[in-house]
Amino acid sequence: MFRRKQPTYTAPVDERGRKAVIDIREISKVYTMGDIEVHALRGVSLRVYEGEFISIMGPSGSGKSTMMHILGALDQPTSGEYYLDGVNVADLKDNELARIRNRKIGFVFQSFNLLKRTPALRQVELPMIYGGGGERRKRAKAALDAVGLGNRLDHLPSELSGGQQQRVAIARAIVNNPAILLADEPTGNLDSRSGTEVLKIFQELNREQGKTTIFVTHDAFIARHTDRVIMLRDGVVVADAKVPQPLIAGEAERPSEAAELEEIFKSTYYGGEKKEYN
Ligand SMILES: Nc1ncnc2c1ncn2[C@@H]1O[C@H](COP(=O)(O)OP(=O)(O)OP(=O)(O)O)[C@@H](O)[C@H]1O
Ligand SMILES: [Mg+2]
Repeated sequence: MFRRKQPTYTAPVDERGRKAVIDIREISKVYTMGDIEVHALRGVSLRVYEGEFISIMGPSGSGKSTMMHILGALDQPTSGEYYLDGVNVADLKDNELARIRNRKIGFVFQSFNLLKRTPALRQVELPMIYGGGGERRKRAKAALDAVGLGNRLDHLPSELSGGQQQRVAIARAIVNNPAILLADEPTGNLDSRSGTEVLKIFQELNREQGKTTIFVTHDAFIARHTDRVIMLRDGVVVADAKVPQPLIAGEAERPSEAAELEEIFKSTYYGGEKKEYN
């Protein structure tokens, strides 16, 4: 039977020779609600290279969560292409999509998404895709150790602080050893001290284990702890810039909000490659 030949895909590399693990091209997403169409993304292209730590910023409704869902293969775009570690996501069937998601991606949400009546250790064992009972327990415990919760294995979410609950969620996200971590406002529900703890864990996972990390935040101070900031506005990328000297979590003093915003806007809106914003 005649089959159209698929063009072969070669992942682009950056100036340091790192491969693009996420490569989206002209992605759009339209939500249809009755007669109304909501254009949540309008042609977004983005390459994320191995080992990068990126934050995504932008006003409410600008499309950040929509983009994270697509990047996490939780949802398909309306049009455009998405290559995840060299694989064309559009070609995948639902079960293949679930499989690639389990193996390659760890997702952390703003609201923790933990099961109410389940102890920490069990929460982390649940998504595990290989290993028998003993092995699963061992790996889940190691993941909880890595986020500093080795002494809270039997605690229910209601017996943990917000920051600790989010750390359980991070342990759950890393237990399958994914190469990519996606976090949608993981510090959004936390006070600033717990937020810093959570940020510190992401920074360590990125720097020490090389996990490629994409982090949505409304907080310019947090964004300055990442290597690169992407700004979305009305479903398009309006700025994409490297952070000149990323801060180390817990070391830098938080400046006033006004000074912080000015700093991040100066460097990303005016210092980046894209200058459409005015
Ligand atoms: N499931 C959906 N059905 C219909 N419209 C949606 C859906 N999800 C998001 N939208 C719309 O798409 C646009 C982008 O929403 P999205 O959640 O991506 O924004 P966001 O940047 O994450 O905002 P926030 O900072 O408030 O979380 C909004 O106008 C929103 O109302
Ligand atoms: Mg959102």
